[in-house]
Amino acid sequence: MFHVKHLINYYTLFDKWHKIKRETNWRCEMIYLDNAATTFPKPEKVYKAIDKCLREYGANPGRAGHKLALEAGRSIYRTRELVCKLFNIENPMQVVFTSNATDSLNLALKGILKSGDHVITTSMEHNSVIRPIIALEAIGVENTIVQCNEQGILDPSKIKAAIKSNTKLIAMTHGSNVSGTIMPIEEIGKIAKQSGVYLLVDGAQTAGIYEIDVQKMNIDLLALPGHKGLMGPQGTGILYIREGLELAHMKEGGTGSRSEILQQPDIIPDRYESGTVNTPGIVGLGAGLEFIFETGIDKIRKHEEELTSIFLEELKKLKKIKIYGPQDAKKQAAVISINIGEEDSSEISYILDSVFDIGVRSGLHCAPLAHKTLGSFEQGTIRFSIGFFNTKEDIYKAIEALKSIYKELNMVE
Ligand SMILES: Cc1ncc(COP(=O)(O)O)c(C=O)c1O
Repeated sequence: MFHVKHLINYYTLFDKWHKIKRETNWRCEMIYLDNAATTFPKPEKVYKAIDKCLREYGANPGRAGHKLALEAGRSIYRTRELVCKLFNIENPMQVVFTSNATDSLNLALKGILKSGDHVITTSMEHNSVIRPIIALEAIGVENTIVQCNEQGILDPSKIKAAIKSNTKLIAMTHGSNVSGTIMPIEEIGKIAKQSGVYLLVDGAQTAGIYEIDVQKMNIDLLALPGHKGLMGPQGTGILYIREGLELAHMKEGGTGSRSEILQQPDIIPDRYESGTVNTPGIVGLGAGLEFIFETGIDKIRKHEEELTSIFLEELKKLKKIKIYGPQDAKKQAAVISINIGEEDSSEISYILDSVFDIGVRSGLHCAPLAHKTLGSFEQGTIRFSIGFFNTKEDIYKAIEALKSIYKELNMVE
């Protein structure tokens, strides 16, 4: 909501800033700092792979037996293999393609939890975890939401303490999409294994940047978007299901397999992949995974970590900026949430976009409980999320823009 008082000030400022832009021949080169929503741009080879698929072999995979259908099928299988390589999954058939992380989380949560079961989650979750869990209350699934501290940090002993005789699942994020806080998944995996409870991890903010090893971390279900750190296009998602774990399927339909039977086949991944899959998207995702292997996941993380560290250090010099979360690049993903004093987060984001050509996200970022945990529920936050293609220059420009706004708001120390 825009405050009238501020709008009057901002209009004056817009005039002033736009005048400076005209006088200095400012070129509009958008600085994209909204990579937590979806990464942009994508590696060049992703564009090329999608284009090639659409033009040269865009047939329906797994249905007909002609050359083009077989080529489409092979390219999808190749992406399954690359997913396995990145997350140390043994069997490519345990990789299910979905349309986004939300789709994967719904399939995992609604597929595994039945009436009388209990699920544990945390107060730092995205609505894509929380909303299905709350919806499951209607069929008698109990839940416990474990409170994290004001930096979004989880104490694993609280998860352990919440386990009851009917607890079936721990469902939680690996990294917060509001504060970037990294969660102790390996420790939680040990607790889950010792207690005979399944572990579902939402890797939306970490996959492709941080190591995720489903075996070492005892992850039974891993839900991922293809369009964030994995560098694929929108409309792609992944659910890894541990071998032997059977989920209820969310939809029935054509799979190209066991066409003679009227029931949904048991064959995995077909059981969960009814209907034509997003072949060009999955091919693009495969190219994104190749890019990650060629570049090296360590190099990707170190680059994002370095930029996060610079940004945090510069922000800390501006005393009236509130920074949420760990404020430590080693303890958080490249997601930085701030506020300038008590200013409305959406107004500041609007100025960053319209005056400084910097794209960020404001508000609650689909994670109201995380904001309650961090103390930013009323104000929301301005979220800067850094990607592999951002540069130090982008970060310094963002800092300069914030300093300008800061100064105009008379926030001199
Ligand atoms: C932590 C987290 N989980 C889940 C999602 C949902 O991802 P998708 O938009 O691919 O459904 C997001 C999206 O930002 C997220 O940040």
